[in-house]
Parts: sequence; C-alpha cells; structure tokens
Amino acid sequence: MREPWVVGVSGASGTPYAAAVVRGLLDAGASVDLIVSRAARLTVLDETGRPFRDAHWSEDLAAWLGRDLDGADVRHWPAGDLAAGPSSGSYPARGMVVVPASTAACAGIAIGLSKDLLQRAAEVNLKERRRVVVVPRETPVTRSHLEHLITLHDAGAVVMPASPGFYGAGAAASAAQLVDFVAGKVLDALGVPHTLFHRWTGTLNADRP
Ligand SMILES: Cc1cc2nc3c(=O)[nH]c(=O)nc-3n(C[C@H](O)[C@H](O)[C@H](O)COP(=O)(O)O)c2cc1C
Repeated sequence: MREPWVVGVSGASGTPYAAAVVRGLLDAGASVDLIVSRAARLTVLDETGRPFRDAHWSEDLAAWLGRDLDGADVRHWPAGDLAAGPSSGSYPARGMVVVPASTAACAGIAIGLSKDLLQRAAEVNLKERRRVVVVPRETPVTRSHLEHLITLHDAGAVVMPASPGFYGAGAAASAAQLVDFVAGKVLDALGVPHTLFHRWTGTLNADRP
C-alpha cells in the first residue's frame, strides 16, 4: 500500500526548505503528497522566479526542485480540494511536514480551522497520532504565535523552527548548506535517512587536524 509523507507548503518565506525536504524524501525512495497553499504560490514566485500552477504542477515542481521527476512517487493535491485524499484520516499517510509554516498556518492548525487542505491534512495527521513536523518561519514573533506553537507541541507535533546550525560547515557555510541543515533535521524527525549535513562528532572545528 502506498503510504506517502504529506508535505504542506504554506506562504512563509523559505520555499528552498520545502524543496530540500521534498528532494530528501524522494532521494530516500519515499512517496510524497504535495499541498501548496494559495499564499505559497506568491512565495514560490518571489523566491524562485517561477509560478506554481495546479494545472502544470509536475513541470513547475520539477523546475522548483531543479531536477526531473522521472521515477519519483510524488502526487499533488490542490489546496482548495477539501475532498482530496489527505483530508481524511482513512487515507493512508505516514505523517506530514508543514514547511515552511506561516504564522497563519500555525494558527489555523492549532485551532483546527481547516480553512484549506493543508490545514485540514495537518489536523487529520495530528488526530491520527501520526508524525507531524511544523517548520515555522517568522521573526520576531507575537505572543499568540508562541501560544499556537505550544498548542501544536502539546497536540504531538514536532515544532522545528527554520533555525540552521553553523557547526559542521562552519562559518563558510553556504546558503544551500544551511537550507540542507534544516531539511536534514526534518528528515531526522521523520526517521528518513539522508546525508544532508555532517553530524556532530564531538570534536570542535578548531581542534580538527
Ligand atoms: C513574499 C511573502 C513572504 C511572506 N513571508 C512570510 C513569513 O516568512 N512568515 C509568515 O508567517 N508569513 C509570511 N507571509 C504572509 C503569509 O503568506 C500570509 O499570512 C498568508 O495568509 C499565509 O497563508 P497560508 O498559511 O494559507 O499559506 C509572506 C507573504 C508574502 C507575500
């Protein structure tokens, strides 16, 4: 039985994080069900210079990921499709990642708003007690956002702010390495193997030969 990871992309800055997570899942041979919110179409356009269109999702996703999708088990659901597979707990899914997660998406998921398929699918995966990872991207934050993150934590989600570490790659870390660090932490939380970053070895950079 196909059992995908649902990847929800909401309209926060950080579409490279989403691309790195999807690439990592596909590289590990996992199945992916993709949901891109209406607002995320603006961030994708702004950050990649390319549109994301429901009618051309495969072509647009390939451009966004920077690779062809031949052999990749990836399926796309329009964010407005509230009858889509991931809207139901009986639809087989391993769990979900919301990356990046806007303050609005965090709020909607925390209070069970289900204003679109992304929010509904996140609520479904939480209620089914599946792995849910939420990657918020906003700074500074309001008290209400912090409260929504606590609600998500208490509901069982792993709250993983887009907060890359500089160890491993060191001060010369490229933007791509910092993106991969966050994506790798997401994959760790899902239990999906990857080689996106160098793991801490217990030796400081300065002490390495
Ligand atoms: C270019 C752009 C960048 C944005 N960046 C952020 C951001 O980093 N964090 C955030 O919480 N919202 C950000 N927003 C605002 C969200 O897109 C907005 O709150 C939207 O309602 C989120 O809807 P969604 O959660 O359904 O995707 C940004 C909007 C635009 C147009």
